[in-house]
Amino acid sequence: MTYEFLKTEKQEKTLIVTISRPSALNALNLALIKELDALIDHIKEDDSIYSVIFTGEGKSFVAGADIGEMSVLNGMEGKAWGEFGLKVFRKLETLPQPTIAAVNGFALGGGCELAMACDIRIASDKAKFGQPEVGLGITPGFGGTQRLAKLVGVAKAKEIIFTATMITAAEAVSIGLVNKVTTPEILLEEALTMAAQINRNGQIAVRLSKRAIDAGLETDIETGGAIEAAMFGLCFSTEDQKEAMRAFLNKEAPTFKNK
Ligand code: CAA
Repeated sequence: MTYEFLKTEKQEKTLIVTISRPSALNALNLALIKELDALIDHIKEDDSIYSVIFTGEGKSFVAGADIGEMSVLNGMEGKAWGEFGLKVFRKLETLPQPTIAAVNGFALGGGCELAMACDIRIASDKAKFGQPEVGLGITPGFGGTQRLAKLVGVAKAKEIIFTATMITAAEAVSIGLVNKVTTPEILLEEALTMAAQINRNGQIAVRLSKRAIDAGLETDIETGGAIEAAMFGLCFSTEDQKEAMRAFLNKEAPTFKNK
């Protein structure tokens, strides 16, 4: 598949997706979001992809939704735009494969929201995060009012959204918005190292763990526990569980078949 605004590169079992619209700091226009939508559908069906890294070309990760395109929308069009972005980011969030945002620069508005729809965020020390929408007279529209509060707590999310100010990568890690900060030079390498650590494990178990964590966050502890028990039990019907436990007991490395 060829894209105008996305570059893809497979390294071993990891797909690296680079958002590439550098003339607008990788701002998300409709064409770019449509490409993301199609790519996510493709990733979901490709079992040779164990993990996905999203990053941005140039000095920005993604500087938000495209302000020029949004400037002329009416109410109904604005709602439809938000719904489309929300749908695509939810599809990203619910991909079976683990996803890592390697945040190389500005992650603002829709860019911060894209990073938050990923499972893990690693940031360059040059990265800046923020939800500047209220400064443009709009609310965050691609999940920012929902995912930010879950990640950093209600008060901090309200501070970030109400003030529309940017925060540094150091502050982002201190509030739990990003997992770790690194230098720009080794950002992709760090993300690939983490992806490789994920890829070497049993992928059925990785994917079921993701489902249990995400489903559990939406429910109470009893239901969450029931979901975990179901996923845990399911693992015992796999060849991977038999092989990995046999290998451990024989002091060998397991060979996973994802079966
Ligand atoms: N939409 C459209 N174009 C954008 C853009 C955006 N979100 N962000 C940057 N650009 C464009 C600029 O217009 C500029 O284009 P020209 O060269 O044609 O003038 C180019 O990218 C470079 O930008 P700057 O000259 O502004 O670069 P800078 O280094 O001086 O500033 C910045 C960088 C602080 C990120 C600044 O560009 C900026 O504030 N951008 C807007 C950030 C923003 O408000 N994002 C939220 C959008 S709303 C949203 O995302 C809603 C939602 O929840 C879905």
